Amino acid sequence: GAPVEVDISALQPGQKMTVEWRGKPVWIVRRTPEQIAGLKKLDSEVADPESKRTAYPIPDYAKNEGRSIKPEYLVVVGICTHLGCSPTDKFQPGPQPSLPDDWQGGFLCPCHGSTFDLAGRVFKNKPAPDNLEVPPHMYLSDSRIVIG
Ligand code: FES
Repeated sequence: GAPVEVDISALQPGQKMTVEWRGKPVWIVRRTPEQIAGLKKLDSEVADPESKRTAYPIPDYAKNEGRSIKPEYLVVVGICTHLGCSPTDKFQPGPQPSLPDDWQGGFLCPCHGSTFDLAGRVFKNKPAPDNLEVPPHMYLSDSRIVIG
C-alpha cells in the first residue's frame, strides 16, 4: 500500500482524526498537556508501559511512555489487538461505567472490555494481548505526517 500523507493542522488539542492506511483506520490524537501528564499515572496499571514486547514490530520512536515521536500526537492503528474490534473513544476522565475510577481518558473495546490509555497502552488483565499498533510514520513538517 502507498504511504498516506495527512494534514494535521486543523486538529485541536483533545481531538482525534481517523485516516485510512492499507485498509485500516489510523487514529491521530492531539493530546492536551493534562492528557500527557495523565499517562505517567498509569505506568503501573498498563501491561507493557514502554512497549518492550516484540509480538509485533514497534518502531523505536514509539518505545516510550507516550508511544510517539512527539508527546502531543498519538498515531495508532484503531483496531483492538484481541479480535479486531474497533475501540470507542472514552476521552472524558473520571469514573464511568466499565472504566476504572481513576480513568485518565483513552479507549474501550466494546467486544470484550479491553481498555487502552491515551497512548494506546492496554491495561493489565484484559483480553487484548498487546498495545495498539503504531504504524510506521514520520513528520514532513509540524503539520504534515506521512504514514507508511
Ligand atoms: Fe477487543 Fe476482544 S476484540 S477486547
